[in-house]
Amino acid sequence: MTREKAINKKTHIAAEDFSVYYGEHEAVRKINLAIPEREVTAIIGPSGCGKSTFLRAINRMNDLIPGCHSKGKLIFEGRNIYGKDVDVAALRSCIGMVFQKPNPFPKSIYDNVAYGPRLHSKLSRSELDEIVEKSLTAAALWDEVKDRLNRNALGLSGGQAQRLCLARALAVKPKILLMDEPTSALDPKATARIEELIVKLRGSYTIAIVTHNMQQAARVSDVTAFFYEGDLVEFEATDQLFTRPKEKQTEDYITGRFG
Ligand SMILES: Nc1ncnc2c1ncn2[C@@H]1O[C@H](COP(=O)(O)OP(=O)(O)O)[C@@H](O)[C@H]1O
Ligand SMILES: [Mg+2]
Repeated sequence: MTREKAINKKTHIAAEDFSVYYGEHEAVRKINLAIPEREVTAIIGPSGCGKSTFLRAINRMNDLIPGCHSKGKLIFEGRNIYGKDVDVAALRSCIGMVFQKPNPFPKSIYDNVAYGPRLHSKLSRSELDEIVEKSLTAAALWDEVKDRLNRNALGLSGGQAQRLCLARALAVKPKILLMDEPTSALDPKATARIEELIVKLRGSYTIAIVTHNMQQAARVSDVTAFFYEGDLVEFEATDQLFTRPKEKQTEDYITGRFG
């Protein structure tokens, strides 16, 4: 895809001179970037460069870390995510997250997916059934689990558990999906399934994925952000970043000279 195509897209989340600190330490430094709506944005860079910190800032998961604070703006649909009047619970239902290690609740498969919808609204059993089926179908897990919805989710394989976590995130109808190295604990086959899913969900959701796997970023994303030591070094259409990087640091990283 061309750079023009990427930058013509509607911005869904914009970081404007956005920094995140742990106490005095500025882990994300005054970054500016525009995450395009209903496309896949990959965030790459060596360990410790601020990828997870930035991703967690988007749904205010960093609020849970003592001493962590931000500066600058992070604009989502015209409003600053860190504005005073923001309802954090509502924000998190709009911006779902999938983590590195699949973390299903020790409950049934059904209850895992129904958990969020039950919290947010009063639904009849048939409405819930429908949400559970749709979410599991969207996460490409329905066929494997439809006959054992009442079994404990802890009995699923790693790849199935990660797809369940995706279904759980989708069940509350988010607009944005954040994924922090969602396949790093999975085998190649399970990884391929998650990658296929990401490509399928693109177009319906705005997706931001942190990955240390550059081939994965190249396979699934439209735009890629390269972070280094808290700075956003380069943000480009994925094809361009991997074939014609503008910055020497990007080139060194993608050619495996460090990281
Ligand atoms: N909870 C925390 N408390 C203090 N410092 C942290 C915390 N989490 C991350 N950091 C620091 O912030 C920097 C960025 O970390 P992180 O966002 O986890 O990087 P990445 O995801 O790119 O590996 C690192 O220097 C890391 O040590
Ligand atoms: Mg990380």
